[in-house]
Amino acid sequence: MTTRPLQFLRRGQPVALGNVPPDRTLLEVLREDLGCTGTKEGCGEGDCGACTVVLGEPDGHGKLRYSAVNSCIRLAHSIDGMALWTAEDLAEDPLIQPVATSTQPADQTTHHSALHPAQEAMVQCHGSQCGFCTPGFVMSLFGMYQNRVCKGQSISRAQAQQDLSGNLCRCTGYRPILDAAQQMAQLPPMAVNEADLLQKLELLALTPQAPEANLAYIAPATQAELLAVRAAHPQAQVVAGATDVGPWVSKQHRQLAQVLDVTRAAELRRIDDTPEHIAIGAAVTLTEVFARLTAQWPSLAEFAHRFAGLPVRNSGTLGGNVANGSPIGDSMPLLIALRAQVVLASQARGERALPLEALYTGYRQNVMAPDELLVRIVVSKPASSEQLKAYKISKRFDDDISAVCLVLNLDIADGTVQRASIGAGGVAATPVRAQQTEAALQGQPWTEATVQQAMRVLQAEFSPISDMRASGDYRRTVLGNLLQRFWLESQGGGAPASIAQLQATHLEDVL
Ligand SMILES: Cc1cc2nc3c(=O)[nH]c(=O)nc-3n(C[C@H](O)[C@H](O)[C@H](O)COP(=O)(O)OP(=O)(O)OC[C@H]3O[C@@H](n4cnc5c(N)ncnc54)[C@H](O)[C@@H]3O)c2cc1C
Ligand code: FES
Ligand code: FES
Repeated sequence: MTTRPLQFLRRGQPVALGNVPPDRTLLEVLREDLGCTGTKEGCGEGDCGACTVVLGEPDGHGKLRYSAVNSCIRLAHSIDGMALWTAEDLAEDPLIQPVATSTQPADQTTHHSALHPAQEAMVQCHGSQCGFCTPGFVMSLFGMYQNRVCKGQSISRAQAQQDLSGNLCRCTGYRPILDAAQQMAQLPPMAVNEADLLQKLELLALTPQAPEANLAYIAPATQAELLAVRAAHPQAQVVAGATDVGPWVSKQHRQLAQVLDVTRAAELRRIDDTPEHIAIGAAVTLTEVFARLTAQWPSLAEFAHRFAGLPVRNSGTLGGNVANGSPIGDSMPLLIALRAQVVLASQARGERALPLEALYTGYRQNVMAPDELLVRIVVSKPASSEQLKAYKISKRFDDDISAVCLVLNLDIADGTVQRASIGAGGVAATPVRAQQTEAALQGQPWTEATVQQAMRVLQAEFSPISDMRASGDYRRTVLGNLLQRFWLESQGGGAPASIAQLQATHLEDVL
C-alpha cells in the first residue's frame, strides 16, 4: 500500500514529500527526512515539549488557527494541507512580517531585529542555558503570541504558566522563561500575513489527489466516507490526534500498516448547540472542547488546564480519550457526571446512542463493533440548581495522569439533594458511575450527616488497585475526602485552599 504525497506549507512555500509511511512521525520527517535538527527529541512521548512545532490551518471564519503540538507523537500525514513552523522558520519565513505601529511607522520596520518577539524575549530575559528545551519553548511562545498577543490580549503570569505547562526545562528554571512570555508583547510586533497564507493553503488544497480507498493513510472528509472506509478496512488503525496512539509508535515501535484518520470528517469536527444539549464531534480537540465546557460550567477551569499540557490538548480529541477508555482518563468521569450519551455509527446499521458508562465492558474494552466509530458525545445543559465540581489528584500538578479523578454533579434545591450524578476514575478497570453513592445522596437533606454517610458508601463502593500512582487505600481515602471537600466548598468560606492556590504559593517559594 502506498501513501499520497504529504504536502504542507513551510516558510510560505509548498513542501511535497513522497513515500512517507503512514506511521512516520512528524519529528522523524523533520529531523531525518528534511534535516531540520533544530526541533529536538527529548522524551519522544509527548511529555517534555522539546519537539514542539506550530501548525496553522483555516479556522472556517477567514482566519488561521494556530496550534502548538508535539511533533514526536503526531503522525506526519496528519498535517497534510496545513502550514508548519519550527523554531528554525520564525526568522526565515517571509510571511512573518513586522507590523507598523503608531510609534513605529512602516518605513522604519526594517530596523527591527530579524528574530521573532518569541525568540527576542527569550534572549533578553536569559531564558536559555543548555538550549535543548529552547526550540520547544520558543514554539509554545510563538503559539501564545499568535493566539493571544496578536489578538490584543495581555499575558498574565498564570496564563503563561498554563500555556507552557507542556514544556520542561532542566536548567534555566522557569522564572526567566515566564518573564519572556510576558516580555514578548512589549517588543516591536510581528504578524503572520494570514491573507497570503490562506490563499497559498487554498492553492495547496487544489492539488489533484489520488483516490483514497486503498491508500495506507486515509483521511475522509465526511462521516459517510469515513464509515464506508471503516467497513471496508476494519483492520486499519483508527487515529484521531494520536496522543495515545503516537507513543505506541514512538516508544513501543508498533507498526501501523494502514491508518484511518478521523480528524478530517467535517461532522466529527463540529460542536452543535441546541437549547438543551451540546453535541461534541468525536474529533474536536480537547482545547476546543474544554473552551466550550468551561464557558458552560466555569467551575471546570482548573480541571481543564490540568488535562495534559497545551500541546497534547491541541492534538488530542475528546473522542480519542473516550474510545481509548483508560480507567485513569480524565474526561470520562466528567462526562459520566454530566450524564453524557455517546453516539456510535456504522455504515450498515446507522447510529445508536448509549450512556457513556455503558460503552465499557472491561479494561480498555468497549462495545464498539469492528465497523463502528464513535462520532459524537452529547451532554445536557445544566439546571440552574446543579453544582458541578471536578477533582483531579495526581503526583504533579501540571501535565500528569490522575491517580484518582472524581466529578460530582449535584442538583441541590430546597436544602435537599434532588439528583446526584457522580463519575470516578482510577478506582476500577473502567471509568465508573458511583451508583451506590448517588443513591445514598438522592432525596436526602444536604447536611454534614448525609455527607458523612455518603463518604462511607463511596469509600466502600470500589476496590481500587495499588500501583505506581497510588495505593488502593490512598485512593479510597481520597475519594471520601473529595466528597467532603465538595460539601465544605458548597458551604462557602470553610473550603480548604485549592490545589492551584497551594501550587502558586509553592512556585513562589521555589522561584
Ligand atoms: C504527555 C501526555 C499527557 C496526557 N495527559 C492526559 C491527562 O491528563 N488525562 C487524560 O485523560 N489523558 C491524558 N493523555 C492521553 C491522551 O492525550 C488522551 O487520551 C486523548 O484524549 C487521546 O485523544 P487522541 O485524539 O489523541 O486519540 P488517539 O491517540 O488518536 O486514539 C486513541 C484511541 O482511540 C481510538 N479512537 C480515536 N478516535 C476514535 C473514534 N472517533 N472512534 C473510534 N475510536 C477512536 C483510537 O483507535 C485509539 O485506540 C495524555 C497523553 C500524553 C501523551
Ligand atoms: S520529545 Fe518530549 S514531547 Fe516530544
Ligand atoms: S535550557 Fe537546558 S533544558 Fe532548558
